[in-house]
Amino acid sequence: MDRGTVSRAPLYSEIQKKESMRFQRLRGFQDILAEEARRFAELAGAARRVFRNFGFEEVIVPLLERREVFSRALGEETDVVRKEMYEFEDRSKTRVVLRPEGTAGVVRAYLENDLDKKQGLAKLFYAGPMFRSERPQAGRQRQFHQIGAETLGTESPWADAEMIHCLDLILKAFGVSGYEIQMNNLGTFEERERFTAVLHDYLKPHEKSLCEDCRFRLGRNVLRVLDCKVESCRAVAGQSPPISGFLSSSSREHFETVLKALEAAGVAFKTAPRLVRGLDYYTKTVFEVTHPRLGAQDAVAAGGRYDGLLEAFGGKAAGAVGFALGVERLLRVPVPAVEPEFDDSCFIAALGDTAIKTGFVLLARIRKEGMTALMDFESRSLKSQMRSAGRNRSRWVVILGEDELQSGRCILKNMKDGLQENPSLGDVVEVLRRKLL
Ligand code: HAM
Repeated sequence: MDRGTVSRAPLYSEIQKKESMRFQRLRGFQDILAEEARRFAELAGAARRVFRNFGFEEVIVPLLERREVFSRALGEETDVVRKEMYEFEDRSKTRVVLRPEGTAGVVRAYLENDLDKKQGLAKLFYAGPMFRSERPQAGRQRQFHQIGAETLGTESPWADAEMIHCLDLILKAFGVSGYEIQMNNLGTFEERERFTAVLHDYLKPHEKSLCEDCRFRLGRNVLRVLDCKVESCRAVAGQSPPISGFLSSSSREHFETVLKALEAAGVAFKTAPRLVRGLDYYTKTVFEVTHPRLGAQDAVAAGGRYDGLLEAFGGKAAGAVGFALGVERLLRVPVPAVEPEFDDSCFIAALGDTAIKTGFVLLARIRKEGMTALMDFESRSLKSQMRSAGRNRSRWVVILGEDELQSGRCILKNMKDGLQENPSLGDVVEVLRRKLL
């Protein structure tokens, strides 16, 4: 037998490696654990409170939509639609897309549920995952989360200012500082088209200085050249004529009112005459919130007005404005470390099997009273159970050892001041109830 041709059975270690690869998450997809999940929930909670104060109501729209919902809204020539959407044919041969953003689905839902006819103005917020098959890097994932809001059915500049004020207050409620709100006015589609032609004529002679992407954009999506991060492109774009020279007096007045309203509401902002956005639906007001501590992917939130979109989706002409905040981006903004406070939970440290049985009954009674109680069932040493209580930041620890069980009592320790009491097992829930509720 020619031994050289015999295929070798895979080694156990090779099988193991292959198997474990199968259970790794996809590139650009993240698990959000423990502390980060807690901050995630805190941000969502802060946003919900602010949204409520502004009169926004929640809308929950599907993660999967027909391709046209996004291609029509964002524009065929945008990076997102051209190369970043997770799209496939479902079993009924419908071309579907995992939503890359929230606005298009909300606009579809507003019209499909006749909110335009029933109420006209709708103020909606949403939170959830979005999917873009971009090259992953710090602050850029393929699955990320947005918290966003849309006001549909109004052309009023006050609605733009209200939206930006709302975003500002969410950031503040979450304790973020040091961010910058940049504002620009992109005018109507017609005004922008006139500007785009002039911009094209300005950029064409500089084509050789532009990066490959921008040379492509020059033919298909000229405005995006202004958004390029490559140094040579920035140098050329920095000298381009600003869009402000191409706007009608009504577009200019709209923007002036937004800026004045922001000043009146006490929102700090800067105007950025060359700010453009990566999605095509924007008209008039656009804005971006950046944070200097985030490196290349420094936009934590962005948005603007999109007056043509309702009509493009078959509704009657009406204005709309919105924003979306990138949750993972915001969680990357460094915050000063604060020692977490004790919370009002109770940890039961049970030593031995009999104590676990008694402890479990106590656990159930405390929880029935609507209080938070924790316990592990591993019979570990008192020291390691006290460490768990500390990690959980539990203010109260009930210690159940053999001596305590025999005397029908337990030790109730206040972890904040170290003081101990010795209530009976029958009374301890009531004692806790008086302290916690
Ligand atoms: P956007 O600028 O594409 O706008 O995204 C908004 C925010 O989502 C960004 O500022 C960023 O914080 C976050 N984000 C975007 N892509 C990623 C990614 N790959 N990884 C992590 N975070 C990301 C919109 O989506 C519009 N729908 C906003 C809007 C609402 N305009 C009007 N209404």
